[in-house]
Amino acid sequence: MAFPSTVSIVEVGPRDGLQNEKQILSVDDKVALINLLSETGLTRIEAGSFVSPKWVPQMADSGNVFNALTKKPGIQYSALTPNLKGLEAALEAGVDEVAVFGAASESFSQKNINCTISESLQRFEPVLELAKQHSIPVRGYVSCVMGCPYEGEIAPSAVAQVSKTLLDMGCYEISLGDTIGTGTPGATKALLDEVLKYIPVAKTAAHFHDTYGQALVNLYTALEYGVATIDSAVSGLGGCPYAKGASGNVATEDVLYMLNGMGVTTNVDMNKLLEVAKLVSTMLSRPPVSKVASTYLSQ
Ligand code: HMG
Ligand code: MG
Repeated sequence: MAFPSTVSIVEVGPRDGLQNEKQILSVDDKVALINLLSETGLTRIEAGSFVSPKWVPQMADSGNVFNALTKKPGIQYSALTPNLKGLEAALEAGVDEVAVFGAASESFSQKNINCTISESLQRFEPVLELAKQHSIPVRGYVSCVMGCPYEGEIAPSAVAQVSKTLLDMGCYEISLGDTIGTGTPGATKALLDEVLKYIPVAKTAAHFHDTYGQALVNLYTALEYGVATIDSAVSGLGGCPYAKGASGNVATEDVLYMLNGMGVTTNVDMNKLLEVAKLVSTMLSRPPVSKVASTYLSQ
């Protein structure tokens, strides 16, 4: 299949990027980050999550963040909602889109959301129902698509099964999470050969962490299959607190550099994005993880 001519980047930095940070950023800092991201040309920004503050303290103020940010027309500001309580809070905060998050690994499901895969799917049902009543689109994440921190290898068929269930339940898009970044191009091919039997490629997103430095080459592989939605985090921030060893998401600026070089349209402005990487670096008092931002900031 030919590469897509246009790719939609889903910026997950304010959520997946920050959720694993020990240093709690203020609402003002988070809002400044999201507002600056809104000026880069990105049209999808995951701005927070409505989860238990005991489980993820960094996200406890997502309601305040949503209330304070300057919504730019044309941008979808989304949030994670693991259950009805989360969705109700998200609706109150005026989110445009929500996401439920399941897993292809039983052990990870237990550690991350304290229930089995099948219980999680039951919990998502009323979330999808209420979201539909409010015309809020729901994204479905599947974690551990190429490996689990507790179970090791995960069969592509297990990923396909959960993905198909989420799609049938009403999720408009399935984001395939390589939570611990152990995937390789070979594993990405095996994954997509199976999953794309059940999920249209236009409804598939790649959410790859870069723990083993494989994210870009895995994304290139996914692009070869026609996947045209890519999740990434500015400055390469991120990781899941319930996936030991999971380092950052692939960096948005690294993805953009690759896509620009391939002539793939994103409408994201590299210079503006690098200014955001600089801001994040100042906020967290450390240099960016990404190669592109490190090079830019060292010049
Ligand atoms: P639980 O303890 O089983 O929930 O947690 P519960 O229903 O028994 O409630 C326990 C307490 O949590 C109660 O409060 C509830 O009110 C509260 P208490 O009475 O003890 O004071 N509670 C909530 N509070 C705020 N918002 C809510 C909420 N729900 C319950 N929505 C639960 C179950 C799902 C809530 C918990 O396990 C949780 O919050 N997990 C979230 C973990 C998380 O956010 N992980 C990171 C995101 S996933 C990820 O990063 C992967 C991804 O990037 C893709 C990839 O890379 O693979 C998406
Ligand atoms: Mg993630």
